[in-house]
Order: sequence, then structure tokens, then C-alpha cells
Amino acid sequence: MSAPSHWPAVPRSYRSLPGWAELDGFAQATFEARLHTLWPDLARPVTELYADREDLPVVLDRLVTVVARAYLDRAEDLRVLDQRRLSQPDWFQRHDMVGYVCYTDRFSGSFATLPSRLDYLAEQGVTYLHLMPVLAPREGPNDGGYAVVDYRETDPRLGSMAELRDLATTLRGRGISLVVDLVCNHTAREHEWARRAVAGETAEDLAYRDYYFFYPDRTMPDQWEQSLPEVFPDFAPGSFTWVPEADAWVWTTFNDYQWDLDYTNPRVLEEMLDVICHLGNAGVEVVRLDAVAFMWKRLGTTCQNQPEAHLILQAFRAFTRLAMPGVVLLAEAIVSPEDLVPYLGQGAATGRECELAYHNVYMVGLWSALAEGDARLLTHTLRSMPPIPPSVAWLTYSRLHDDIGWAVTDANAAAVGLDGFAHRSFLSDFYSGAHPGSWAEGEVFQENPVTRDRRISGTLASLAGLERARQRGDGEAVGLAIRRILLLHGLVLVHGGVPLIYMGDELGMLNDRSYLADPARAEDNRWVHRPAMDWLAAERRHDPTAVEARVFEGLQQLVRARQGLPQLHAQTPVEALDLGGDDVFALLRTGPRGHCLALANLTDAPRHVSLHGFDRFGPLSGLRDAITGDDLWWDFTLEPYQQRWVVPAP
Ligand code: GLC
Repeated sequence: MSAPSHWPAVPRSYRSLPGWAELDGFAQATFEARLHTLWPDLARPVTELYADREDLPVVLDRLVTVVARAYLDRAEDLRVLDQRRLSQPDWFQRHDMVGYVCYTDRFSGSFATLPSRLDYLAEQGVTYLHLMPVLAPREGPNDGGYAVVDYRETDPRLGSMAELRDLATTLRGRGISLVVDLVCNHTAREHEWARRAVAGETAEDLAYRDYYFFYPDRTMPDQWEQSLPEVFPDFAPGSFTWVPEADAWVWTTFNDYQWDLDYTNPRVLEEMLDVICHLGNAGVEVVRLDAVAFMWKRLGTTCQNQPEAHLILQAFRAFTRLAMPGVVLLAEAIVSPEDLVPYLGQGAATGRECELAYHNVYMVGLWSALAEGDARLLTHTLRSMPPIPPSVAWLTYSRLHDDIGWAVTDANAAAVGLDGFAHRSFLSDFYSGAHPGSWAEGEVFQENPVTRDRRISGTLASLAGLERARQRGDGEAVGLAIRRILLLHGLVLVHGGVPLIYMGDELGMLNDRSYLADPARAEDNRWVHRPAMDWLAAERRHDPTAVEARVFEGLQQLVRARQGLPQLHAQTPVEALDLGGDDVFALLRTGPRGHCLALANLTDAPRHVSLHGFDRFGPLSGLRDAITGDDLWWDFTLEPYQQRWVVPAP
């Protein structure tokens, strides 16, 4: 793609930055080569976002300067990392990737003590470590760290920025990439920009009021709210908060202390880009961009998934690549199937948006299939999603720190003969344990009185039945719950992308109600599934009589199977198949690297499977289960909740 003539010329003022002249010729030429090659990717999203601004050349020049400064500051080892990533751009798509997600304090205490737990992660094959929000949060309630007061400082309870940087280096030495959150949709109301905005401060050519959305009265908020869905209808109803000091209403999509940033102001884009580069230069390899669906508002819409939100991500992508091509961007957009795929880049943005995105649709589909003992909705939903570009990957998971919202569309439900609303209600009843026959122990999160929507909190193990089974001392039910846990882990591992293990799920940790005693957390039952790591339970992980060992070792077996199958690389296409039986879910991975057919019995009774006539592997001499190593016949039985990863026998 070449640059249209109406675009501003490639800026040059970065050349007068202190340090530029001293940079060696090769480093200068590298930056300039990237700048010229990437210019269409850099200029296009910014030009489209700010087309009506006369100062567009200045906006672009400032953005390039921010990035050039980061390039000058980039440490030697990180430049080497950039070169390594450029020589192996599919590093995060590989079949041996395994992600782990934890709260630093709840896992190890601090950045400094985390290395003492690395053997535990290595045992699980972890190559990607997401430390839940680490940047300085506001005091008091802070939405689990998603209300940041300072993007350049870490939470002092976890350690300093220098310690985070050291930790990133240590992790890299062990083959683990550090992943950190950047809350780019909103700041805490105590953030310096917000304080200056309230004070009505201006500096040079900028007014801090223009960083946020302020309204003098309800006229505009009332108009916006006609089409805005509620995110936290229970503890933070509405999307605007009256701020007496500012004598204004402020846009607050989430809690009243989280103020949405106004990206129609290019200064906001510039500030966030600077923060991304700051994290990248601290050794962060994957930046998790939080709540990206909400970054652009348009009257009369839900103000989610707007085209401009994608342009912002494309700008982040291109500019970051200029300074630090090793850094990967992860979109946190928990949206419906049709809105999700574009975050991985589509059309002109193919390969130019985020490399990673959460596959919440698959996650929801797995829980739905398990509750019903029926794969049809999951299969249909996956089949109706467009394929993703070959250079990106999903993050697959069964549980993380947030609630589960039932992202099942009415149309997909109808296609398999279900009523969307009734099915979503069923899932909430089932996983809150209210449905007769349910094994699950979850809690209802954010019941919406208007839409009657209910989301669900709870750990993987509690939702899969382990809590109730253990309480009852019912050994058979414990066995079934463990099988469900492993079934979900397995389907997460075989799908393709980076599979995530959420801290404690590898041991079958149960719901933790201790958050109720903490006033800053008591209102938010997502804390029920954010327990502190139980290291005593971890010590039982190889004790054959312990439940923890049955979960941990079962998971290890699955991870080893994945790591032995190059065909599970994210570039191998994935396809949900309808093999005839509604209660067996079938996921086919087939491509030049090889084949694998995952079959999962979604019920608590044995199911017969026949692969006679199945020809998607081409001519074969035999079949094998890659999990157990068993040779298989064309007909076999799947035990309750058993999965097999069928591959051609060697
Ligand atoms: C993301 C986070 C969630 C948080 C929200 C607001 O969705 O995962 O925990 O509440 O953003 O920052």
C-alpha cells in the first residue's frame, strides 16, 4: 500500500531529539526504514480518526516523536528481543505456548518474591504470564486494580517499576513472556489528568477538561443513555456520575471512580501510546488493552465496537511496532460473536490490529454445552464466525477474573431451536445452582432489573461441580467434577491460540467467600473466584490420594499432549464439526502441519463414536489418542466427560 497524496508527509522532527545524532548509523537507518515502510499504517488510522483537524500534520509529528523517544530509550536486551521476534513472528502462536494468569500479591506476594515460584510455573509448561493489574491503583475500591492513578508507577504493595523490570528480565531468561494490563479506556478519578481537569487547568495548547467527557447538566447524558447498555447495573447504575467539584456530569461506563477518556482528543491517544511504550521498555512483551470496545462513543449506539475504536487500536499497533516490534497487543473485548473477530484485524486492517484477543464466545459456548450436554449451539456458533487472519491468535480459557456473561445471540440460539432469552436464563439458573439437577455452585453477578440479564461468578472447579461434591463427600460426584474440569482444560488447550490457566484452577480451587469481610470488595462477588493461592494445596499436587493431584496431573498430561503436537499451532485452521451425535463435541484441526480431531463427551454417560467414513485426515493406516497414546479403532467409546485427541497413527 502506498500513501495517498492527501496524507501529511513523513515527519522529520524526531531527528532533533536529544540522543538521535549520537545513535549509530544502523540504528538510525532501522528506525527510518520502519517509519517509511509503516507510514501507510501509521498515517491511515490517525488521518481517519482526526480527518477534520487542521493540525493533523502536528498530531502525526507528535506521535512519531513519542515513539522515536521510546526507540532511543529502548535497552539493548530489548532490541535483541525485537530482532528475535522479527525472525520468529509466530512465537505466540506456537503449540508449546501455555499462559498463566494470576494476581501478584495473591500468588507470590510481590515482584521480588515471584521468581521463587517459577519452578511451579515451569512444571506446568508456562511460557506466558499475565500479572493482573500492576500499575498504581487508587486507594479504596479500585475494581481489582482497573482504576489507575499513575501509569508510570507500579502498585507499591507489589514492588517498584525497577523490580517489575527485573522480573521481566528474569522471566524472559526462563522463556516466559510478561503480560501486563493497560487500562486505556478510563483513569481513576484521582489520576493527575482528572485532578487537573477538575481544577480547570490548561497547559500550553491543551485543556485537561478535553481528556474526559464533562456535561453541565443532564441534557446530553440523558440522550446518550437512551441507547447505552448498563455494565454494572447493580453497584454502579447509569453511565454518568455527578462530580460536584467540577460542577458537571462525567462519563463513567464502569464505576463512578473510573472516568472514561475522550479519544476524540488526539492528546489522549498520544498519552496512551506513550504509556504503551513505557511498558514495552520496562520489558512487558504483551500489553493487555483493557475494555477496548468502549473507547469511542457515538450517539444513538451502544457506544461499543465503533469503527473508531478499531482505528485507535490500529494506531497503537502501528506506532508501537515502529519503536518495539517485539511487543504484542492483546484486545480485551468481551463482546458478541459478530463484534469479536474484527479486533484481530479484518479487511484493510488484516495484520494491523491486535495480535491477540480473548475468545469469550468459545468460553461461553463450552459452559453452555456442558450444562446442556449438547454441542449444537457451540458448534453452530463457532461455524458461523469468520476465520481469523493467519498472523494472529485467540486466547482460549474457561475461567478468568471476570464474571461469565452469556454472549449467546438470539439468532444463534434460534438456529438450533432455542429461545435466546430462555437459554441465557437457563444458564444463569444452572450455574448459580438454582436449576434442578445442577451440580454448579456459582453466584449471580449484576442482575439487570430491566433486561433481566444475569451474569455468573464462581471458580472453574465450583462451577464444574467440585464444591458441592466435596461438601457432600460424594466420591463419584467428585470424579465427575474432575472430569468436567479436565474436559474444559483440554478443549481450551486443543483449540489453537494461547491457552490460559487461571491461578488456582490447576488445583481445582473452590469459591472463596473471604472477600465479604473486606468493605472495598464486599459488593463485587467476582472476588469469589479470585482466591489467594493455596500453597498447601499445591504441595498435594503429586499426592495420588489428593483431589488436587488428580486435577493437576490430569492437566499436565493434557499440556504435554499439546506440546507434542505441532499441528496445534494457531495457524492450523480450526473447525467445529457435526459428526452426528449432539452430545459429543468435535473440533477438527487440520492443515499442512498435520491433523487432530478432538472429541469430547459432554455427558455423564458413556457415548459411542464411529469414525467410519471420516476422511478429513486423508489416507490412514490407523488412529491414535494423543492424550493417552492409546491406539484406536474406527469405533470406540468415550467414557463420561472423556475427551480424545485423535491423530493419525505414525
Ligand atoms: C475489564 C476488566 C474488568 C474491569 C473492567 C473495567 O473488563 O477485565 O475486570 O472491571 O475492564 O476496567
